[in-house]
Amino acid sequence: MIRNIKNNVDWVGKIDWELREFHGADYSVNRGSSQNAYLIREEKTVLVDTVWLPHAEEFVSNLKQIIDLNSIDAIVINHGEIDHSGALPLLMKEIPDTPIYCTANAVKSLVGQYHQPDWNFKTVKTGDSLDLGNGKQLIFVEMRMLHWPDSMAAYMTGDNILFSNDAFGQHYAVEELFNDKADQCQLWDEAMKYYANILNPFSPLVKKKIEEVVSLNLPIDIIATSHGVIWRDNPLQIVEKYAQWAEDYQEDQITIVYDTMWDSTRMLAHRLAAYLNQLAPKTRVKLYNLSNSDKNDVMTEVFRSKAIAVGSPTVGNSILSSVGGWLHFLKELKFKKKRAAVFGSYGWSGEGNKELRELLTQAGFAVVEPEVRVNWKPREEDLSQAEQIAQALLAD
Ligand code: FEO
Repeated sequence: MIRNIKNNVDWVGKIDWELREFHGADYSVNRGSSQNAYLIREEKTVLVDTVWLPHAEEFVSNLKQIIDLNSIDAIVINHGEIDHSGALPLLMKEIPDTPIYCTANAVKSLVGQYHQPDWNFKTVKTGDSLDLGNGKQLIFVEMRMLHWPDSMAAYMTGDNILFSNDAFGQHYAVEELFNDKADQCQLWDEAMKYYANILNPFSPLVKKKIEEVVSLNLPIDIIATSHGVIWRDNPLQIVEKYAQWAEDYQEDQITIVYDTMWDSTRMLAHRLAAYLNQLAPKTRVKLYNLSNSDKNDVMTEVFRSKAIAVGSPTVGNSILSSVGGWLHFLKELKFKKKRAAVFGSYGWSGEGNKELRELLTQAGFAVVEPEVRVNWKPREEDLSQAEQIAQALLAD
């Protein structure tokens, strides 16, 4: 499959409609994804990135139908993670001497994964370039920690295409490839989910990198990501969105997240939602039971929220594993400037709230003092305590 992007630049990647999880099972993929790779045919022929390992044979065979593999002058690997480099070993069997342009860290990740230290690596840094002929160049920009230490982008002069790799991407399959052809609600949902669940910990670096790239004043006609849509209609809209998201983003939303054993904690969660709505009708309130919700989608709701409330019954002197595992993930994502509250029921020992409080504090949340801690089934006087949590979460 080949699709023209602009002039002598074609897309040669994989639209992965069947993909349902990513990073093991740490990221849910509900609408498919893509691994975008690109073929530049100027005086020099350059391949930018490849696809994930399961699609390697299809990728190489597809390339063979388009060009003689021996005509590839260089391969650019913007990032060594296997979803972009997975077809490299098969390709390198065919053209073993082809130079691979990548960062020094990418050499480490590629050698670490594929055990081929003798590949013809050409290490590049920010500002280094590769001459494509016809007056065009690829200029490399290191994107350290966006999202791996080895990440980089490549900017093609003349056609003004930024090959951004993971940055500005989404796990979202769009058969028509371009952002203006995508379902806009789904596209922005997926772009936010990707940022919240993968890039948020690196927000300070996102901010700096955007400032750096903007200060270069490069014309950008197309942002050719490695996942999801290629931004050609107002491509800077996603850059502007990233600049907003990197500033400890929040909307007027409060999200309640809980799990329950015998409904007591559920009753508290629902009463809290009712109080929040009653006290602040303009604030959007959402409620998720972690045992039957997509944990990444819930995380995206946390990203949009100014405050959250987390509930669990006490079990085994601690909390339910669904909540504990989710809080571990929450800590990893380094959200800032958000409030939190805790609630839960218990039968015997009742340590759950203390544990929730500690884990949320470690995750960087400002945990409000009021809480609801109910012995056995809540009575009306227990449920009514949720109003104090609502007030504390809404306080200016
Ligand atoms: Fe799409 Fe970091 O790999």
